[in-house]
Amino acid sequence: MYLSSVSTEIAPGTYPANLLASFAPRLIAWQREHGRHDLPWQNTRDPYRIWLSEIMLQQTQVSTVIPYYARFLERFPTVEALAVAPIDDVMALWAGLGYYSRARNLHRCAQVVAGEHGGQFPSTVEGLAELPGIGRSTAAAIASFAFGARATILDGNVKRVLARVFGVEGFPGEKRVENAMWALAESLVPGADASNADVSAYTQGLMDLGATLCTRGKPDCERCPFADDCVAKTTGRQRQLPAARPKKAVPTRRTWMLVLLDGDAVMLEKRPPTGIWGGLWSLPEAAGEAALADRAQMFGATAKASPLASLTHTFTHFKLDIEPRVVELEHKRAALVAHEGETVWVALREIDAYGVPAPVRKLLDGLRGSLI
Ligand code: ADE
Repeated sequence: MYLSSVSTEIAPGTYPANLLASFAPRLIAWQREHGRHDLPWQNTRDPYRIWLSEIMLQQTQVSTVIPYYARFLERFPTVEALAVAPIDDVMALWAGLGYYSRARNLHRCAQVVAGEHGGQFPSTVEGLAELPGIGRSTAAAIASFAFGARATILDGNVKRVLARVFGVEGFPGEKRVENAMWALAESLVPGADASNADVSAYTQGLMDLGATLCTRGKPDCERCPFADDCVAKTTGRQRQLPAARPKKAVPTRRTWMLVLLDGDAVMLEKRPPTGIWGGLWSLPEAAGEAALADRAQMFGATAKASPLASLTHTFTHFKLDIEPRVVELEHKRAALVAHEGETVWVALREIDAYGVPAPVRKLLDGLRGSLI
Protein backbone atom coordinates (compact mmCIF):
# COMPACT_ATOMS: atom_id res chain seq x y z
CA MET A 1 0.00 0.00 0.00
CA TYR A 2 2.68 2.51 1.03
CA LEU A 3 4.65 1.42 -1.98
CA SER A 4 2.44 3.18 -4.45
CA SER A 5 1.35 6.14 -2.35
CA VAL A 6 4.79 7.68 -1.87
CA SER A 7 5.74 8.76 -5.35
CA THR A 8 4.69 11.91 -7.06
CA GLU A 9 4.46 12.55 -10.78
CA ILE A 10 7.31 14.33 -12.50
CA ALA A 11 6.15 17.63 -14.00
CA PRO A 12 6.74 17.64 -17.78
CA GLY A 13 9.93 19.46 -18.70
CA THR A 14 11.62 18.92 -15.34
CA TYR A 15 14.27 16.75 -17.00
CA PRO A 16 15.35 16.53 -20.67
CA ALA A 17 13.06 14.07 -22.48
CA ASN A 18 15.89 12.56 -24.51
CA LEU A 19 17.90 11.83 -21.36
CA LEU A 20 14.88 10.24 -19.66
CA ALA A 21 14.25 8.04 -22.70
CA SER A 22 17.86 7.03 -23.35
CA PHE A 23 18.93 6.49 -19.74
CA ALA A 24 17.96 2.82 -19.39
CA PRO A 25 19.30 1.55 -22.76
CA ARG A 26 22.58 3.41 -22.23
CA LEU A 27 22.93 2.08 -18.70
CA ILE A 28 22.17 -1.48 -19.79
CA ALA A 29 24.74 -1.29 -22.62
CA TRP A 30 27.34 0.10 -20.20
CA GLN A 31 26.58 -2.56 -17.57
CA ARG A 32 26.98 -5.38 -20.10
CA GLU A 33 30.37 -4.10 -21.18
CA HIS A 34 31.84 -2.51 -18.05
CA GLY A 35 29.74 -3.60 -15.08
CA ARG A 36 30.33 -6.35 -12.53
CA HIS A 37 29.38 -9.85 -13.64
CA ASP A 38 31.08 -12.27 -11.29
CA LEU A 39 29.94 -11.33 -7.82
CA PRO A 40 28.99 -14.47 -5.86
CA TRP A 41 25.28 -13.56 -5.85
CA GLN A 42 25.12 -12.97 -9.59
CA ASN A 43 24.40 -15.55 -12.25
CA THR A 44 21.65 -17.06 -10.16
CA ARG A 45 17.91 -16.53 -10.00
CA ASP A 46 17.59 -18.25 -6.64
CA PRO A 47 15.59 -15.76 -4.52
CA TYR A 48 17.09 -17.16 -1.30
CA ARG A 49 20.65 -16.42 -2.43
CA ILE A 50 19.69 -13.04 -3.84
CA TRP A 51 17.75 -12.06 -0.73
CA LEU A 52 20.65 -13.09 1.55
CA SER A 53 23.11 -11.01 -0.48
CA GLU A 54 20.86 -7.94 -0.53
CA ILE A 55 20.39 -8.01 3.24
CA MET A 56 24.13 -8.40 3.81
CA LEU A 57 24.89 -5.62 1.32
CA GLN A 58 22.69 -3.10 3.15
CA GLN A 59 25.19 -0.61 4.61
CA THR A 60 28.08 -3.03 4.03
CA GLN A 61 30.70 -3.13 1.30
CA VAL A 62 30.92 -5.91 -1.26
CA SER A 63 34.45 -6.93 -0.20
CA THR A 64 33.34 -7.32 3.43
CA VAL A 65 30.24 -9.30 2.53
CA ILE A 66 31.86 -11.90 0.24
CA PRO A 67 33.43 -14.20 2.90
CA TYR A 68 30.36 -13.92 5.18
CA TYR A 69 28.10 -14.80 2.29
CA ALA A 70 30.09 -17.93 1.49
CA ARG A 71 30.13 -19.12 5.13
CA PHE A 72 26.41 -18.45 5.51
CA LEU A 73 25.46 -20.43 2.43
CA GLU A 74 27.65 -23.30 3.44
CA ARG A 75 26.02 -23.52 6.86
CA PHE A 76 22.48 -22.61 5.66
CA PRO A 77 22.12 -23.72 2.00
CA THR A 78 18.34 -23.22 1.94
CA VAL A 79 15.75 -20.94 3.51
CA GLU A 80 14.43 -23.95 5.47
CA ALA A 81 17.89 -24.66 6.90
CA LEU A 82 18.12 -21.05 8.07
CA ALA A 83 14.57 -21.09 9.47
CA VAL A 84 15.21 -24.09 11.74
CA ALA A 85 18.64 -22.93 12.93
CA PRO A 86 18.99 -21.59 16.49
CA ILE A 87 19.21 -17.79 16.47
CA ASP A 88 22.55 -18.04 18.29
CA ASP A 89 24.05 -19.87 15.32
CA VAL A 90 22.80 -17.15 12.99
CA MET A 91 24.20 -14.39 15.20
CA ALA A 92 27.54 -16.20 15.48
CA LEU A 93 27.89 -16.32 11.68
CA TRP A 94 26.84 -12.67 11.41
CA ALA A 95 29.31 -11.48 14.07
CA GLY A 96 31.50 -8.76 12.59
CA LEU A 97 29.07 -7.61 9.88
CA GLY A 98 27.39 -5.07 12.16
CA TYR A 99 23.81 -3.78 12.25
CA TYR A 100 22.69 -6.91 14.10
CA SER A 101 18.97 -6.24 13.75
CA ARG A 102 19.55 -7.34 10.15
CA ALA A 103 20.48 -10.83 11.41
CA ARG A 104 17.45 -11.09 13.69
CA ASN A 105 15.13 -9.95 10.88
CA LEU A 106 16.87 -12.34 8.49
CA HIS A 107 16.09 -15.26 10.77
CA ARG A 108 12.47 -14.15 11.27
CA CYS A 109 12.06 -13.64 7.54
CA ALA A 110 13.35 -17.17 6.85
CA GLN A 111 10.81 -18.54 9.34
CA VAL A 112 7.96 -16.62 7.68
CA VAL A 113 8.97 -17.77 4.19
CA ALA A 114 9.42 -21.38 5.32
CA GLY A 115 6.35 -21.43 7.57
CA GLU A 116 3.81 -19.26 5.76
CA HIS A 117 4.89 -19.30 2.12
CA GLY A 118 5.84 -22.95 1.70
CA GLY A 119 9.50 -22.04 1.36
CA GLN A 120 8.88 -19.82 -1.68
CA PHE A 121 9.72 -16.11 -1.61
CA PRO A 122 6.94 -13.86 -2.95
CA SER A 123 7.67 -12.71 -6.49
CA THR A 124 6.31 -9.15 -6.26
CA VAL A 125 7.77 -6.03 -4.69
CA GLU A 126 4.65 -5.67 -2.53
CA GLY A 127 4.80 -9.28 -1.31
CA LEU A 128 8.52 -9.09 -0.57
CA ALA A 129 8.22 -5.74 1.22
CA GLU A 130 5.84 -7.29 3.76
CA LEU A 131 8.56 -9.61 5.02
CA PRO A 132 10.74 -8.69 8.03
CA GLY A 133 13.83 -6.63 7.17
CA ILE A 134 12.89 -5.99 3.52
CA GLY A 135 12.31 -2.34 2.67
CA ARG A 136 11.09 -0.87 -0.57
CA SER A 137 14.45 -0.73 -2.36
CA THR A 138 15.62 -4.17 -1.20
CA ALA A 139 12.29 -5.67 -2.28
CA ALA A 140 12.76 -4.13 -5.71
CA ALA A 141 16.32 -5.46 -6.02
CA ILE A 142 15.20 -9.00 -5.16
CA ALA A 143 12.16 -8.82 -7.45
CA SER A 144 14.30 -7.53 -10.28
CA PHE A 145 17.20 -9.99 -9.93
CA ALA A 146 15.18 -13.09 -9.05
CA PHE A 147 11.97 -12.53 -11.03
CA GLY A 148 12.86 -9.95 -13.68
CA ALA A 149 10.26 -7.55 -12.26
CA ARG A 150 10.32 -4.00 -13.59
CA ALA A 151 10.96 -2.68 -10.11
CA THR A 152 12.71 0.48 -8.95
CA ILE A 153 15.62 0.48 -6.55
CA LEU A 154 16.73 3.60 -4.71
CA ASP A 155 19.55 3.16 -2.23
CA GLY A 156 22.26 5.67 -1.31
CA ASN A 157 24.37 4.91 -4.39
CA VAL A 158 21.44 5.30 -6.75
CA LYS A 159 20.41 8.58 -5.12
CA ARG A 160 23.91 9.91 -5.79
CA VAL A 161 23.81 8.84 -9.45
CA LEU A 162 20.39 10.39 -10.04
CA ALA A 163 21.16 13.60 -8.14
CA ARG A 164 24.25 14.11 -10.27
CA VAL A 165 23.06 13.02 -13.71
CA PHE A 166 19.68 14.80 -13.46
CA GLY A 167 20.74 17.64 -11.19
CA VAL A 168 18.26 16.85 -8.41
CA GLU A 169 18.69 19.58 -5.82
CA GLY A 170 18.18 19.20 -2.08
CA PHE A 171 19.28 16.72 0.58
CA PRO A 172 18.08 13.20 -0.44
CA GLY A 173 17.37 12.33 3.22
CA GLU A 174 14.59 14.91 3.16
CA LYS A 175 11.21 13.35 2.42
CA ARG A 176 10.27 15.81 -0.33
CA VAL A 177 13.54 15.20 -2.20
CA GLU A 178 13.36 11.44 -1.66
CA ASN A 179 9.82 11.35 -3.08
CA ALA A 180 10.98 13.27 -6.14
CA MET A 181 13.81 10.77 -6.57
CA TRP A 182 11.45 7.79 -6.33
CA ALA A 183 9.29 9.38 -9.02
CA LEU A 184 12.32 9.95 -11.24
CA ALA A 185 13.70 6.44 -10.59
CA GLU A 186 10.34 4.89 -11.44
CA SER A 187 10.12 6.79 -14.69
CA LEU A 188 13.54 5.46 -15.74
CA VAL A 189 12.95 1.72 -15.33
CA PRO A 190 13.08 -0.07 -18.73
CA GLY A 191 9.78 -0.33 -20.56
CA ALA A 192 7.42 -3.29 -20.77
CA ASP A 193 9.29 -4.55 -23.85
CA ALA A 194 12.44 -5.13 -21.78
CA SER A 195 13.48 -8.74 -21.16
CA ASN A 196 14.17 -10.14 -17.68
CA ALA A 197 17.87 -9.99 -18.49
CA ASP A 198 17.56 -6.32 -19.45
CA VAL A 199 15.82 -5.50 -16.19
CA SER A 200 18.49 -7.28 -14.15
CA ALA A 201 21.28 -5.57 -16.11
CA TYR A 202 19.59 -2.22 -15.57
CA THR A 203 19.28 -2.71 -11.79
CA GLN A 204 22.81 -4.02 -11.55
CA GLY A 205 23.98 -1.13 -13.74
CA LEU A 206 22.60 1.43 -11.31
CA MET A 207 24.45 -0.28 -8.48
CA ASP A 208 27.65 -0.67 -10.49
CA LEU A 209 27.74 2.91 -11.72
CA GLY A 210 27.28 4.22 -8.17
CA ALA A 211 29.85 1.86 -6.67
CA THR A 212 32.57 1.97 -9.33
CA LEU A 213 32.44 5.30 -11.25
CA CYS A 214 30.02 7.72 -9.64
CA THR A 215 31.63 7.45 -6.23
CA ARG A 216 31.17 10.04 -3.53
CA GLY A 217 34.70 11.35 -3.20
CA LYS A 218 36.35 10.81 -6.57
CA PRO A 219 33.91 10.25 -9.43
CA ASP A 220 35.56 8.88 -12.57
CA CYS A 221 33.56 11.02 -15.00
CA GLU A 222 35.87 10.30 -17.93
CA ARG A 223 34.58 6.73 -18.08
CA CYS A 224 30.95 7.51 -17.37
CA PRO A 225 28.39 6.82 -20.12
CA PHE A 226 26.42 9.92 -19.01
CA ALA A 227 29.32 12.39 -18.86
CA ASP A 228 27.98 14.49 -21.77
CA ASP A 229 24.54 14.92 -20.19
CA CYS A 230 25.31 14.78 -16.48
CA VAL A 231 24.28 18.03 -14.78
CA ALA A 232 26.96 17.65 -12.09
CA LYS A 233 29.71 16.97 -14.65
CA THR A 234 28.75 19.63 -17.14
CA THR A 235 28.42 22.30 -14.43
CA GLY A 236 31.39 21.12 -12.34
CA ARG A 237 29.18 20.39 -9.33
CA GLN A 238 30.17 16.79 -8.60
CA ARG A 239 31.06 17.81 -5.06
CA GLN A 240 27.81 19.69 -4.47
CA LEU A 241 25.47 16.97 -5.75
CA PRO A 242 23.84 15.29 -3.99
CA ALA A 243 23.42 18.09 -1.44
CA ALA A 244 24.84 17.38 2.00
CA ARG A 245 22.67 17.06 5.09
CA PRO A 246 21.76 20.62 6.12
CA LYS A 247 23.96 21.80 8.95
CA LYS A 248 22.34 22.31 12.31
CA ALA A 249 22.51 25.91 13.48
CA VAL A 250 25.53 26.21 15.74
CA PRO A 251 24.73 27.45 19.25
CA THR A 252 26.46 30.56 20.59
CA ARG A 253 28.02 30.71 24.04
CA ARG A 254 29.17 33.86 25.73
CA THR A 255 32.05 34.40 28.10
CA TRP A 256 33.47 37.43 29.91
CA MET A 257 37.24 37.78 30.07
CA LEU A 258 39.20 39.75 32.61
CA VAL A 259 42.11 41.75 31.24
CA LEU A 260 44.02 42.49 34.43
CA LEU A 261 46.68 45.06 33.56
CA ASP A 262 49.74 46.11 35.49
CA GLY A 263 51.63 48.56 33.35
CA ASP A 264 52.30 46.70 30.15
CA ALA A 265 51.84 43.27 31.74
CA VAL A 266 48.71 41.16 31.67
CA MET A 267 47.76 38.29 33.91
CA LEU A 268 47.21 34.91 32.25
CA GLU A 269 45.95 31.74 33.85
CA LYS A 270 46.51 28.19 32.75
CA ARG A 271 43.36 26.47 31.54
CA PRO A 272 42.39 22.99 32.76
CA PRO A 273 43.97 20.20 30.71
CA THR A 274 40.69 19.13 29.09
CA GLY A 275 37.93 21.06 27.35
CA ILE A 276 38.34 23.93 24.92
CA TRP A 277 41.83 25.37 24.81
CA GLY A 278 42.95 22.66 27.27
CA GLY A 279 46.32 23.53 28.84
CA LEU A 280 46.70 26.88 27.03
CA TRP A 281 47.34 30.19 28.78
CA SER A 282 44.32 32.48 28.66
CA LEU A 283 42.56 35.34 30.43
CA PRO A 284 40.56 34.63 33.60
CA GLU A 285 36.90 34.13 32.69
CA ALA A 286 33.51 34.70 34.24
CA ALA A 287 29.99 33.75 33.16
CA GLY A 288 28.50 37.28 33.25
CA GLU A 289 29.03 40.92 34.23
CA ALA A 290 28.23 40.30 37.90
CA ALA A 291 30.48 37.25 38.18
CA LEU A 292 33.19 39.23 36.44
CA ALA A 293 32.90 42.08 38.97
CA ASP A 294 33.17 39.52 41.79
CA ARG A 295 36.29 38.00 40.33
CA ALA A 296 37.80 41.42 39.72
CA GLN A 297 37.21 42.30 43.35
CA MET A 298 38.87 39.08 44.48
CA PHE A 299 41.91 40.23 42.61
CA GLY A 300 41.83 43.50 44.53
CA ALA A 301 40.71 45.39 41.49
CA THR A 302 38.11 48.08 41.32
CA ALA A 303 34.84 46.93 39.83
CA LYS A 304 35.30 49.56 37.18
CA ALA A 305 35.74 47.59 34.04
CA SER A 306 36.15 49.21 30.70
CA PRO A 307 34.85 47.17 27.82
CA LEU A 308 36.93 46.34 24.78
CA ALA A 309 35.24 45.45 21.54
CA SER A 310 33.68 41.98 21.79
CA LEU A 311 34.72 39.30 19.35
CA THR A 312 33.31 36.02 18.12
CA HIS A 313 35.29 32.84 17.64
CA THR A 314 33.84 29.94 15.68
CA PHE A 315 34.50 26.36 16.80
CA THR A 316 33.20 23.31 14.95
CA HIS A 317 30.15 22.89 17.19
CA PHE A 318 29.53 26.33 18.62
CA LYS A 319 30.40 29.99 18.48
CA LEU A 320 31.95 31.79 21.38
CA ASP A 321 31.21 35.47 21.98
CA ILE A 322 34.01 36.96 24.03
CA GLU A 323 33.31 40.08 26.10
CA PRO A 324 36.66 41.45 27.26
CA ARG A 325 36.77 43.87 30.21
CA VAL A 326 39.93 45.76 31.14
CA VAL A 327 40.25 46.06 34.88
CA GLU A 328 42.46 48.47 36.80
CA LEU A 329 44.34 46.93 39.71
CA GLU A 330 44.54 48.69 43.06
CA HIS A 331 47.13 46.44 44.61
CA LYS A 332 48.94 45.43 41.53
CA ARG A 333 50.57 42.03 41.92
CA ALA A 334 48.75 41.32 45.14
CA ALA A 335 46.17 39.97 42.71
CA LEU A 336 48.17 36.78 42.43
CA VAL A 337 47.63 35.92 46.06
CA ALA A 338 43.90 35.78 45.56
CA HIS A 339 44.16 33.41 42.65
CA GLU A 340 44.06 29.65 43.05
CA GLY A 341 45.22 28.43 39.67
CA GLU A 342 48.51 28.65 37.90
CA THR A 343 49.09 32.24 36.77
CA VAL A 344 51.76 34.38 35.14
CA TRP A 345 52.25 38.05 34.45
CA VAL A 346 53.40 38.52 30.92
CA ALA A 347 54.50 41.69 29.14
CA LEU A 348 52.14 42.17 26.20
CA ARG A 349 55.09 42.14 23.78
CA GLU A 350 56.13 38.70 25.07
CA ILE A 351 52.79 37.00 24.66
CA ASP A 352 54.12 35.04 21.68
CA ALA A 353 56.26 32.95 24.03
CA TYR A 354 53.10 31.46 25.58
CA GLY A 355 50.53 29.14 24.11
CA VAL A 356 47.57 31.52 24.01
CA PRO A 357 44.28 30.78 22.12
CA ALA A 358 44.14 32.64 18.80
CA PRO A 359 41.21 34.97 19.62
CA VAL A 360 42.71 35.89 23.00
CA ARG A 361 45.99 36.64 21.32
CA LYS A 362 44.25 38.82 18.78
CA LEU A 363 42.54 40.69 21.57
CA LEU A 364 45.82 41.24 23.43
CA ASP A 365 47.63 42.30 20.25
CA GLY A 366 44.93 44.92 19.73
CA LEU A 367 45.35 46.10 23.29
CA ARG A 368 49.08 46.37 22.90
CA GLY A 369 48.62 48.47 19.79
CA SER A 370 46.36 50.85 21.68
CA LEU A 371 48.77 51.16 24.66
CA ILE A 372 51.84 52.03 22.60
N1 ADE B 1 24.69 -3.46 -3.19
C1 ADE B 1 23.42 -3.79 -2.96
N2 ADE B 1 23.06 -4.81 -3.75
C2 ADE B 1 24.13 -5.13 -4.49
C3 ADE B 1 24.38 -6.09 -5.49
N3 ADE B 1 23.43 -6.95 -5.86
N4 ADE B 1 25.59 -6.12 -6.05
C4 ADE B 1 26.54 -5.26 -5.66
N5 ADE B 1 26.36 -4.35 -4.73
C5 ADE B 1 25.17 -4.27 -4.14
